[in-house]
Amino acid sequence: MAPAPSSSSERRATVIDGKAVAAEVTEKIDAAARAFAAATGKRPGLAVILVGEDPGSQVYVRNKGRAAERLGFHSVQHTLPVTVTEAALLELVENVNADDSIHGLLVQLPLPAHIDPKRVAEAIAPSKDVDGLTPINIGRLASGDGAHALIPCTPAGSVILIRRALGNDLTGRNALVIGRSNIVGRPVAQLLIQENCTVTIAHSKTRDLPALARQAEILIAAVGRPEMVRGDWVREGACVIDVGVNRLPGKDGDKARLVGDVAFEEAATRAGWITPVPGGVGAMTIAMLMANTLTAAARQTGFALILDL
Ligand code: GUN
Repeated sequence: MAPAPSSSSERRATVIDGKAVAAEVTEKIDAAARAFAAATGKRPGLAVILVGEDPGSQVYVRNKGRAAERLGFHSVQHTLPVTVTEAALLELVENVNADDSIHGLLVQLPLPAHIDPKRVAEAIAPSKDVDGLTPINIGRLASGDGAHALIPCTPAGSVILIRRALGNDLTGRNALVIGRSNIVGRPVAQLLIQENCTVTIAHSKTRDLPALARQAEILIAAVGRPEMVRGDWVREGACVIDVGVNRLPGKDGDKARLVGDVAFEEAATRAGWITPVPGGVGAMTIAMLMANTLTAAARQTGFALILDL
């Protein structure tokens, strides 16, 4: 459907309801998990390792555990002190790798500065790597073999939201990804290449980013800078996916405010579709973690999973 014609200051964009799409996706995961349990007599198992006491990470990890429990998954959380050594963390990863009741393992990021996140990612069994951060899964995705990879959750969820907005065929669409992180920017670019988009990846050294952004039919902001993408960067009718979650201090004793990487109200006057923060991509990330855990469990037990999201 064509978006409504714009006037300069009113919101024209359709706001993409990430919670509603996540609920719909989670229902499909639930049905597939029941079929898996009936056939194998097993529950998908997810282990999450949290190092330290960062309040944001604590909330994320709690929400992941709750989502797993709601689906009847076996859910385990390991909480380690911020002073834990890298060697002790690697030993825990090895133990979880060897635990047959656990099919998916996620080490919450960021890690304390004395621990090398790359070394930790490389220690995770690729078959249990529900974050898609091991070199094997990165390589499979980058070589066009996403079907046999585990794919990072936020990128996978973002592409589902884009397809809900623009339709399942994204062939030839011009996409700009702002940000080149291993967890979002790079993998979402790979997924969009797989969808036959023409993809540009922008980063802190990119010249004239606003001009590049104005060409994008699909604009993904994943930089972690509050409201960096302004309204006049947005092409008329574009699909804007805001991956940023930035906590701004409240004014005059108000509660902290969450904002994305996109200046929402400005961008919504020009975009055709836009995700809000909160209520956009975030909900999809957890749903896709559940999908990855079920996918990992099915592969490890030889169950032929049918999960078309
Ligand atoms: N911290 C913020 N987002 C993520 C994520 O998707 N995975 C992990 N492991 N840590 C995160």
